[in-house]
Amino acid sequence: MRRIIWLWLLLSFLALTLDPIAALSKETKGRIALPAASKESDVSLEEALSKRQSIRSFTDEPLTLKDLSQLLWSAQGITHGREFRTAPSAGALYPLEVYALVGRVDGLPSGLYRYDIGKHTLTKVKEEDQRGSFSEAVYQPRIIKQAPVTLIISAVYKRTTAKYGERGIRYVHMEVGHAGQNVMLQATALGLGCVGIGAFNDDFVKDFLGSKEEAPLYIIPIGKLVR
Ligand SMILES: Cc1cc2nc3c(=O)[nH]c(=O)nc-3n(C[C@H](O)[C@H](O)[C@H](O)COP(=O)(O)O)c2cc1C
Repeated sequence: MRRIIWLWLLLSFLALTLDPIAALSKETKGRIALPAASKESDVSLEEALSKRQSIRSFTDEPLTLKDLSQLLWSAQGITHGREFRTAPSAGALYPLEVYALVGRVDGLPSGLYRYDIGKHTLTKVKEEDQRGSFSEAVYQPRIIKQAPVTLIISAVYKRTTAKYGERGIRYVHMEVGHAGQNVMLQATALGLGCVGIGAFNDDFVKDFLGSKEEAPLYIIPIGKLVR
């Protein structure tokens, strides 16, 4: 019996060390754990603000899982209490959802993932590299095809309009701006480039995400800078 346990332990160890994907992204019950986001860095807010600019060309280098974790956290990560986040939300009603279209991230298979905000994990929505098909949603498909990661932020308006009525629509648009700017400053602080894209085919992106109640609002391709 002991021998069997030792053999099992050895095989599990080898599987983890030899398979880089298993070693980096661990999946439990369909959820993929993300590394914890850093809460400090050597880049000041002023530096990130002054360096941020729209970048529309990227190298073909992959991002790390840690980069992806940090970018998702900057958009909507939990900061304090059970639900308070990196971006403010009218009435703390949190209408936003965040997706990562992953083309090239070390240790994470390509595909479309939904960010599980409360758990800081990912759930796969679509298998395989979807950049080619998703790029049809935008005016400049090259940007999406090049970017190793594209974040898509959508909103469920009724979470906010149920309390604030028509005015809630305005609040949701303010909130997507907050989240988008967070991502752009975070990308800059990580030495990455990105651009916020508002011109896209709404129906196409809605179908792509596969959620009837969500309205896609912002698309942010992110990648390494061309030097
Ligand atoms: C709401 C919004 C929507 C935008 N949509 C697009 C877009 O569809 N395509 C694009 O290439 N840039 C888009 N941009 C980026 C702007 O073109 C860019 O911010 C502007 O030219 C100023 O340049 P800077 O970001 O480098 O300061 C958008 C920016 C914002 C704020």
